[in-house]
Amino acid sequence: MIRERFSEHIRNYLSDDSWMILEDHYDPEENLKYESLFCLSNGYLGTRGAYEERAAKSIPCTYINGVFDKSETFMRELANLPDWLGIKLYVEKELIGIETCRVLEFSRALDMKHALLVKRFVLEDKKGRRTEVEGIRMVSRANVHRMGIRLFVTPLNYSGIIEVENIIDGSVINFCDAPRFKVKHTRLLTNCPLTDKGAYVEVATRDRKLCVGTGSLIEAYAGGRPVMKNRSFGAFGETAVEFQDFDAEEGKAVEVVKYASVYTEREVPDCHGDSCTERASDRSELHCRVRDEIKGFAADGFETEMSRHIEVYARMWDEANIEIRGDFDLDRAVRFTLFHLMSAGSEHDDRVNVGAKLLSGEEYGGHAFWDTELFMLPFFACVFPDTARNLENYRYRLLDAARANAAKNGYRGAQYPWESADDGTEQCPDWTIEPDGTCYRCYVAVYEHHVTAAVAYGIYNYVKITGDRCFLREKGAEILIETARFWASRCEYNREMDRYEIRRVTGPDEWHESVDNNLYTNYLARWNLGYVLELLREFKEDGTGLYEDLKARLNIRDEELESWSHVKEKMYLPKGKENGLLEQFEGYFDLKEVTIEAYDENDWPIRPEILRTVPKTQTQIIKQADVVMLLHLLGEEFDEETKRKNYTYYEKRTLHGSSLSPSIYSVMGLHVGDETKAYRYLRRAAFIDLTDLQKNTREGIHAANAGGVWQTVVFGFAGVSFSEDGVVDIRPHMPKEWEGLSFKLHHRGSKMEITVLPDNSVTVTVLEGGPVSVRINGEAMVLKGSGPADEAMVPEGSGQAAGGPS
Ligand code: BGC
Repeated sequence: MIRERFSEHIRNYLSDDSWMILEDHYDPEENLKYESLFCLSNGYLGTRGAYEERAAKSIPCTYINGVFDKSETFMRELANLPDWLGIKLYVEKELIGIETCRVLEFSRALDMKHALLVKRFVLEDKKGRRTEVEGIRMVSRANVHRMGIRLFVTPLNYSGIIEVENIIDGSVINFCDAPRFKVKHTRLLTNCPLTDKGAYVEVATRDRKLCVGTGSLIEAYAGGRPVMKNRSFGAFGETAVEFQDFDAEEGKAVEVVKYASVYTEREVPDCHGDSCTERASDRSELHCRVRDEIKGFAADGFETEMSRHIEVYARMWDEANIEIRGDFDLDRAVRFTLFHLMSAGSEHDDRVNVGAKLLSGEEYGGHAFWDTELFMLPFFACVFPDTARNLENYRYRLLDAARANAAKNGYRGAQYPWESADDGTEQCPDWTIEPDGTCYRCYVAVYEHHVTAAVAYGIYNYVKITGDRCFLREKGAEILIETARFWASRCEYNREMDRYEIRRVTGPDEWHESVDNNLYTNYLARWNLGYVLELLREFKEDGTGLYEDLKARLNIRDEELESWSHVKEKMYLPKGKENGLLEQFEGYFDLKEVTIEAYDENDWPIRPEILRTVPKTQTQIIKQADVVMLLHLLGEEFDEETKRKNYTYYEKRTLHGSSLSPSIYSVMGLHVGDETKAYRYLRRAAFIDLTDLQKNTREGIHAANAGGVWQTVVFGFAGVSFSEDGVVDIRPHMPKEWEGLSFKLHHRGSKMEITVLPDNSVTVTVLEGGPVSVRINGEAMVLKGSGPADEAMVPEGSGQAAGGPS
C-alpha cells in the first residue's frame, strides 16, 4: 500500500492504491513531468506540482482560468500568476531542500480521491543533520479561493532553531525555461505584509490591467500550541518573504501550516478603479478580501477546510468514477485522466472554457480548441451537466466575436476561432519560432475551419444527452444558424462539376495543410446546414413563434434557407471510385502510398523510414484520426462495410502524432469489430501522460485525450449511445482482461448506474429521475425510476430482462 510510506500524520488521510499515483524516487529530470501529473486544480485555478522549496528544473505555474494576457507574445495566454507555494526551511542557514541535502527517503503521491498532493522526505544536510519533512497540499474545491500546505517537520538527530520563509513569488514568468519565449505577463502593484503578519502580493496583467491579489500566512504548532516566533517581513522586488522561526526538538514533529488565497478583480469588482496602478498605502478591496479569506481559513483550520474539500470530491467522484475490475493499472490510469479533466471544469463560471492542457501547463496558452466540444463535452454532459452548460454558454457569449471573425475573413455568419481565450478573437499564432530563431508563418487558423462545425455539433450532442431544449431554443439555435450561414458562405460553387466545394482547408490531419475538399470538413459543414434546416422546420411547426422570431432577429430570408438546402444537396464528398474508400481530401489517393509496417515494443507505429527523405505532405501518412473521426461522429451516414474498410485503410496510415487520435481509433476499432486493437489503443490513451508517451507531458496534461479515454470506455467498451428520441442504447464489448465495469451517467434529468460483466450482461439502475428508455443488448424497455432504484439486468443475446422494467 502506497499510504504505508507515510507516517500517521498523513497516512490516515490517504486512499487505497487504486486512487494513488506515486513518485517513488527523486530524479530532477522527471520534475517537469511530475509537475504536470501532480497539478492540483479546482475549476477556478490550477497550480503545478512544483516543490515548495523550488528545484533547479521547474516550471512553477499558477493559472486562474480566464486570466489571459498577451504582452510581447503572439497571443493571449494564461498568465503565470504569483507563485503561492514557497516555503523554505533552514537549520543554521542550511536549506532543508530536496536539492541541497542528501535524499535518504523520498515519496510523493497524488491522492486522486481526496485531491491531495502528499510527500515524505528524509533529508540529510552537509553537517549530517537529518530532517523528516512530510506534507499535504490542497487547492480547495469547497472554497476555490483557499489553498493550503501543511507540513510536519521532525528533526531526527538534532534539536535547534528552524527558520521558515513564507514566500509569494511575483517574479514568475511564462516559458521560463525557453529563452526565446520568456514573457512576463504581470506587473507588480503591491508587495507588503498581509496584516501585521503574512505576505501579500498584488499584480496586474500588463495589457488589460486585471488585478490579482495573492496572500499567505504561515503558522507553526507543537502539541496544538502556536510556536512561530520572530516574524519579520521583507519585500524583495516582486517577491514577498515573511521570516519566522520555531524551536524544534529532536524526534518531535512541528506542524507548519501555510494558508493562502487568491482573488482577482473579476470577483471583487470594486477593487480599484483607475487608482489600482497608483495606490499608495491604503489597502485595496482586493487586499481586504484576500486578508479576510485567509483569516477565515486560519480560524476554520486546515483540517476543516480539507474535510470540506474531500467531501466535495466525494460527491464529484460519486458522479465521475469509472471502475474497471480485474485490470488494476488501467483502472487507475483511466481514473487519473478523469481526475484532471473533472478538476479543471468549472460548474460556476461560464466565461471560461477548458484549455487543451487544462490548467496544468503552458502549452497552447490555455486556449480552447475543438477538443472541448468533440472530446471533453460528452464527459461533462453525461457526468457534470452544469459544467457542460457553462461550456455551451461560453460559446454563446462569444458569438458576436465569432461573427466579427467571419466578417474579418470575408464570410457571413459566425466563424469560431481555431484557438479561443477570453474574448473570442482568434488566438492561434500567425508565426512560430524554431529553436534556431527561424520564424515560420503558421497557417493553422487560416485554414483549419472545422472548429466551427465542432461548436455546432457540440450543441446537438449536448442537447441530445441532457435534453436541455431551453438552451437550444434560447441560445443554441442562434449559434447553429450563424454557423450554417458561415458554411454556406464558405462553400464555393463549381459550375463545371455542378457541386459545392470547400477549397484551401485543413482537416483534423494537420500534416496535409491546405487541401481541397477535406471530406471531414465537407461532411460536417453539410451536417450543420442540414441540422439547422431540420430544426427550423421543427420550430416552424411547433407554433411557438420561435421560428418567426429567429427569422426576424437574424434577418433570415426564405431564399437564404433555400440556398442552404441547395449547398447541402450539392456538397462534394470525395470517394474512391469502386473500392468503398472515402478519400480524406481531393487527391489524397494520388499521394505516395506509404503505410505503417513496423511497431515498437509498446506496439506503437514506427515512423516509416521513407519520411526521412520524403516530406509527409507528399505521402498518405497522416497525423491523426480524420476520416475515422468522421465515421465516429456521423456514423449513421455510413454502412458497416464502409466503416470497416476505411478504418483498416486509415489505421495503416495514421501515426497518432496527436493525442486526439488513439481514443478515436479505440472507439471505432470496437465499432468495426477489432477488439484487440481497441484495447491497445485505450491503454495508449490512458497512459499517455502517466508514462509520458508523447514526451511532452511536461507541457501539461492532454485534456482532449482525457475526454477521449472516457468516451472509449463508455461509448466504446460499454457501447453506450443516445438516440435523438431519448433512448439510451447499451451494447457492450468487454475486453477479455476485464472482470467488470461500472459507471454512472446523467441523461435528460435522470441518473443511472450501469454495470457490465465479462459476458457483456448489463445491469442498469435508475438512481434519480426516470422513466428512462433503454435498449440493452438489443432489448428495449422503460425503467420507471423515481423512488427506490429501478433496475434491469439483461444478459447479452438472451433478450431476457430481470428486475423491474415497466
Ligand atoms: C492537434 C489538434 C488539437 C490541438 C490541441 C494539435 O496537435 O492536431 O487537433 O486541437 O493539438 O490539442
